[in-house]
Amino acid sequence: MSQGIYISKNAAVTAAVLAAAAMVTIIALSVAYSKQKTSAGEGGGAGEGGGGTQVGPTPAPEPKEPWDRYRLPDTLSPVSYNVTLWPRLEKDEGGRYIFTGHSAVVFQCVKETDLILIHSSKLNFTMFEGHQATLTTLDGRRAPAIRTTWLQPKTEYLVVQLSGTLVPGRSYQLYTKFQGELADDLEGFYRSEYVEDGVRKIVATTQMQATYARQAFPCFDEPAMKAVFHMTLIHPRSTTALANGRDAVITDTILEGTDVRITTFEPTKPMSTYILAFIVSDFGSIKKDDSSSTTLVRIWARKKALELGHGAYALNVTLRMLEFFESYYNTSYPLSKSDQVALPDFNAGAMENWGLITYRETSLLYDPRTSSNGNKERVLTVIAHELAHMWFGNLVTLRWWNDLWLNEGFASYVEYLGADHAEPSWHIKDMIVQGDVQRAFTVDSLVSSHPLTRKEEEVNKPEEISQMFDTISYSKGAAVLRMLSEFLSEPVFVKGLSSYLHQFAFGNTVYTDLWDHLERARRREGLHLPDSIHEIMNRWILQMGFPVVTIDTTTGSISQQHFLLDPDAVVDRPSIYNYQWIVPIKWMKNRVEQEQHWLTDKTAVFEPMRVSGGEWLLANMNVSGYYRVNYDLQNWERLFTQLSSNHQAIPVINRAQIIDDAFSLASARILNTTVALQSTRYLVQEREYIPWQAASSSLYYFFQMFDRTEVYGPMLAYLKKLVGPLYEYSMKIDRPLSHTMAYTRSIALSLACTTGVPGSNEQVLEWFRQWMREPNDIGIDPNLKTTVYCKAIAAGGEAEWNFAWEMFRNATVASEAARLRSALACTKVPWLLNRYLQYSLDPTKIRKQDATSTIGYIANNVVGQSFAWDFFRSKWDYLFKE
Ligand SMILES: *[C@@H]1O[C@H](CO)[C@@H](O)[C@H](O)[C@H]1NC(C)=O
Ligand SMILES: *[C@@H]1O[C@H](CO)[C@@H](O)[C@H](O)[C@H]1NC(C)=O
Ligand SMILES: *[C@@H]1O[C@H](CO)[C@@H](O)[C@H](O)[C@H]1NC(C)=O
Ligand SMILES: *[C@@H]1O[C@H](CO)[C@@H](O)[C@H](O)[C@H]1NC(C)=O
Ligand SMILES: *[C@@H]1O[C@H](CO)[C@@H](O)[C@H](O)[C@H]1NC(C)=O
Ligand SMILES: *[C@@H]1O[C@H](CO)[C@@H](O)[C@H](O)[C@H]1NC(C)=O
Ligand SMILES: *[C@@H]1O[C@H](CO)[C@@H](O)[C@H](O)[C@H]1NC(C)=O
Ligand SMILES: [Zn+2]
Repeated sequence: MSQGIYISKNAAVTAAVLAAAAMVTIIALSVAYSKQKTSAGEGGGAGEGGGGTQVGPTPAPEPKEPWDRYRLPDTLSPVSYNVTLWPRLEKDEGGRYIFTGHSAVVFQCVKETDLILIHSSKLNFTMFEGHQATLTTLDGRRAPAIRTTWLQPKTEYLVVQLSGTLVPGRSYQLYTKFQGELADDLEGFYRSEYVEDGVRKIVATTQMQATYARQAFPCFDEPAMKAVFHMTLIHPRSTTALANGRDAVITDTILEGTDVRITTFEPTKPMSTYILAFIVSDFGSIKKDDSSSTTLVRIWARKKALELGHGAYALNVTLRMLEFFESYYNTSYPLSKSDQVALPDFNAGAMENWGLITYRETSLLYDPRTSSNGNKERVLTVIAHELAHMWFGNLVTLRWWNDLWLNEGFASYVEYLGADHAEPSWHIKDMIVQGDVQRAFTVDSLVSSHPLTRKEEEVNKPEEISQMFDTISYSKGAAVLRMLSEFLSEPVFVKGLSSYLHQFAFGNTVYTDLWDHLERARRREGLHLPDSIHEIMNRWILQMGFPVVTIDTTTGSISQQHFLLDPDAVVDRPSIYNYQWIVPIKWMKNRVEQEQHWLTDKTAVFEPMRVSGGEWLLANMNVSGYYRVNYDLQNWERLFTQLSSNHQAIPVINRAQIIDDAFSLASARILNTTVALQSTRYLVQEREYIPWQAASSSLYYFFQMFDRTEVYGPMLAYLKKLVGPLYEYSMKIDRPLSHTMAYTRSIALSLACTTGVPGSNEQVLEWFRQWMREPNDIGIDPNLKTTVYCKAIAAGGEAEWNFAWEMFRNATVASEAARLRSALACTKVPWLLNRYLQYSLDPTKIRKQDATSTIGYIANNVVGQSFAWDFFRSKWDYLFKE
């Protein structure tokens, strides 16, 4: 559970609170809020993902034996593999699902050695006693004899010790036969099950990133060990086999007394093991009809889902986005086909296997009838993200996992560009500020954050590699790359990018290789910067955190300071740059955009930033820089005056950022809470999604703080006044709504119900009761379902709750069940909440994996809070055990 919910709420509240005037309310609220903050002494939201305290290098002594080290030695280099795998989609006599296989890897000797180390994990060679491995050459010479072989489970190697040495420059072939389990563990070559028309179906599929290819066949399982893969799959004739390349030859035969089909695929391009994939399923597919392009694009999914048309949107946007990325990267799509597969059972959101991308169903399939805009946007951005990797990541691959941030940050940035190209009317590029920049701010303003990059030698074990996949790598990576592209300008950025991709195609890099190409591009373009790209960017990637830039418009002085959400936090991680950054400032004065300014020192005076008269100054236009901004009080007030008179003079992203910065600065006790609350005053006129989103998440804290104090009432009254006009407006709009207006309407309805805007609760109850009368004919707008369910259950009684419970039990769509499970916690009736708490520990009613989040939902409800806490304490042992 998150911090900040169970703190005491007995703040003294002044009589002034009850006055109606907004300004007075604001001041009173902020006084009470400040007291709460101080007494609670909590440091703001505990960040998700990036929390883990990664301390510096732990200098463990280098193990003596090569097979005790996690990294491969530099003696051998793979060239190609011939792999045949036969997954059994039925249980064997022992009740297990298995696969068998054999593989021949050709490798070149780079340095003389008498040892072959090749990754292998959870594979069984013992049934082929005496044939664990065979070493040959391709040119008829004699290969050294194998002295002994063994498995080294800790470091996941098959160790082959030779009696002679391998000769540098010569090639050898190692042949192995093995068996593995097709477990349902979502790793390596694994099994996924689903039920269609009452029939249980088995899919054999893969997830290799980061270190699971070694569970499918013995391989040099590091990203720099690129090779060509010749894949063959043996499978039931009723199924289809897919791999990274197109299928080349299909033969039907009988093996071990079973009818089988053997599918051989065209050899891949040179590639890393972690983006391999193979799938055996009875999925159906759709593809583009005309053949204007040479690239074959298909969507694969359960046949039923495709019959219902749920793959059409993915197909349409995949085609448009491939075109976009070809032109953005100035490089044609490197493969002959692009398959996108929706799996009923998949751990990550999606995986960028080269030419065979795997997705969760909710990330690829879109049902126009029941899905919300949010579902659609997710499909769009996930496809864009994965396709972006086809070049950046797959064609050119980072040498080692310590640079993962560049791979993931890059895809997380350009996914917005690809998505924008496919859906230009959605203004989706603006969403990066909320989706990644602010997310990164939250995690990166804690002392427990860490720098983007790590040293190669600090990342060795599989656990250390999987730790790299966090919010910092994805969201901060995206934010700083966006900043780089913005200060270079997109044309210069893509020139450097495409020359990088051309030089390193099918190869591996370190992040400075990209800087080299960008630096050359900006010199060619004659773009002036205060320092080289290396020097500027090092400050953002080698040290954690980010600055708050303070501009005093009365003097024109600018300064920077490491921003920490908790003012009492102590930073104990040293930085060679002393927590100072080279900060690009895009800014606006007198309503005119000014020339980009650079803050290179801790403090500086920049005369043009002095403002006279009633004019305001706005810095960090469109939040293109990865930092927060603070101003002198007068400038804050001038900004608020501008917002109240004509908010459109300030770009929409900045309207959201003013709110987000102000509340964060207030949390850090850098800015008076009064000022933060004042930033919300203009919202009576705001109709755009992003500022409302920023406000509603900032104000959420206030609700949590105040919800049983005397301030709660006035707080609601204030918010009610703010949201009333938006609610009226958004309910009157005739459909179809714009993409973001659909989001805004949902926020408006939710806040209107919470604050009691007349008519709002009656409206949700009416919709909900209509559904109760006709359960099979839900007329509720998919974009409003989450809000309507929750608010109707809150406004209703036992009948509404019981109906929702029944619909939850009957739900067949995962997203619908999730909405209902959270809505059930919205009731105001104590005994219903109590019953729901009891249900949450009954695995026949709520799945075990959902128990804690259900209790969390109940605890978030004002009515449920105290007894959820008691309950949690009394059942702690049980919960912990389960
Ligand atoms: C690998 O398989 C391909 C085609 O299946 C074949 O042409 C090639 O000779 C094989 N290579 C080795 C080393 O076995
Ligand atoms: C490996 O194969 C042998 C022989 O078939 C079998 O006894 C053993 O249980 C297998 N081990 C694993 C881990 O699958
Ligand atoms: C995708 O859908 C849009 C709108 O429905 C349509 O105009 C466009 O032609 C489609 N594109 C492709 C490549 O199918
Ligand atoms: C695109 O690549 C071609 C060579 O493949 C090059 O001549 C051209 O200048 C590149 N364009 C851009 C914008 O980089
Ligand atoms: C800011 O973003 C908007 C789109 O939201 C764009 O139209 C505008 O050109 C951007 N301004 C700057 C200075 O980057
Ligand atoms: C915050 O602002 C309010 C109203 O302007 C003022 O009364 C209060 O003293 C200020 N608090 C601090 C800590 O500056
Ligand atoms: C839920 O499912 C049960 C059993 O299939 C059925 O009897 C009941 O009518 C369903 N309830 C609703 C509201 O659809
Ligand atoms: Zn990714």
